[in-house]
Amino acid sequence: MLVGGVVGLRFLVGATRKGLVKGMSRIAYVNGRYVPHRAAQVHIEDRGYQFADGIYEVVAVRHGHLVDEVPHLDRLDRSLGEMRMAAPMARAPLRHALREVIRRNRVADGIVYLQVSRGVAPRGHAFPKDAAPSVVITAKRLAPNYAQMEKGIAVITLPDIRWKRRDIKTVNLTANVLAKQQALDAGAYDAWLVDEAGMVNEGTASNAWIATKAKELVTHTPDYSILNGITRIAVKDLAEKEGYKFVERPFSKAEALAAAEAFITGTTSWVTPVIAIDGKPVGGGKPGPLTRALQRLYEAHADLP
Ligand code: PDD
Repeated sequence: MLVGGVVGLRFLVGATRKGLVKGMSRIAYVNGRYVPHRAAQVHIEDRGYQFADGIYEVVAVRHGHLVDEVPHLDRLDRSLGEMRMAAPMARAPLRHALREVIRRNRVADGIVYLQVSRGVAPRGHAFPKDAAPSVVITAKRLAPNYAQMEKGIAVITLPDIRWKRRDIKTVNLTANVLAKQQALDAGAYDAWLVDEAGMVNEGTASNAWIATKAKELVTHTPDYSILNGITRIAVKDLAEKEGYKFVERPFSKAEALAAAEAFITGTTSWVTPVIAIDGKPVGGGKPGPLTRALQRLYEAHADLP
């Protein structure tokens, strides 16, 4: 039996009942073929499905172009290397496939999702000898959440129970999924994941930042404890170019609550203000001027072809 078939069918039934789901991917790339999304399939013995033995990237599409495509593909290569997986294809055909999925789904503003797993093989922990990697690409329309960027979000803090190599963008997001749902259930938008020493690592799908009262921008050192976000790097570079003070170091929840401003960065969140942590206001409970300035800089950056 094929996993994608079942998931696709359920999705289609849901979509038919509610009318067409806005922004859904219509065409997916699966191992060299462009197929209708509802019929897109991977095998039940795909190692991504059985072991989370795979990696992924999410790249923003803005006015039809890929935002920071090269850094995203560089990080993909890094993830592949850390997983001891060979690149499934050369970069030029990969870039072509990404563009083709965007084009076939008519995405002007949205995201493209790329996943590479170690492939299909009878279940066994050891690397399979001859499996070819599975490559899946989907794209969907998704407008930037301007209302949320304007207003800001509330986060809760939760213990970071993930594995110790969060620098690798693996599809094992179990802990992220649980934390995100716990945040939503608590009436917040996201969770900031905190290490055993009480330091904030990152959000469930974003990097965490504060601006101190001395106007210093602070975000976690890009070590094994966090994913080195491509948006994080872009914002860091933009901030430094503008002459803002920037420092990479861990910060605690107490420091964040006492900070002038807080925000998150990510491919799907851009620069989004954080206005409350665990029910307590940050920066007077409203987005601050540095966050606003970085939002403008990042939007201009994303607009560039
Ligand atoms: N997540 N930290 C984590 C744990 C993430 O999953 C992400 C991105 C980020 C931000 O990275 P970037 O700026 O490169 O998007 C940080 C993607 C968007 C996702 O899982 O959907």
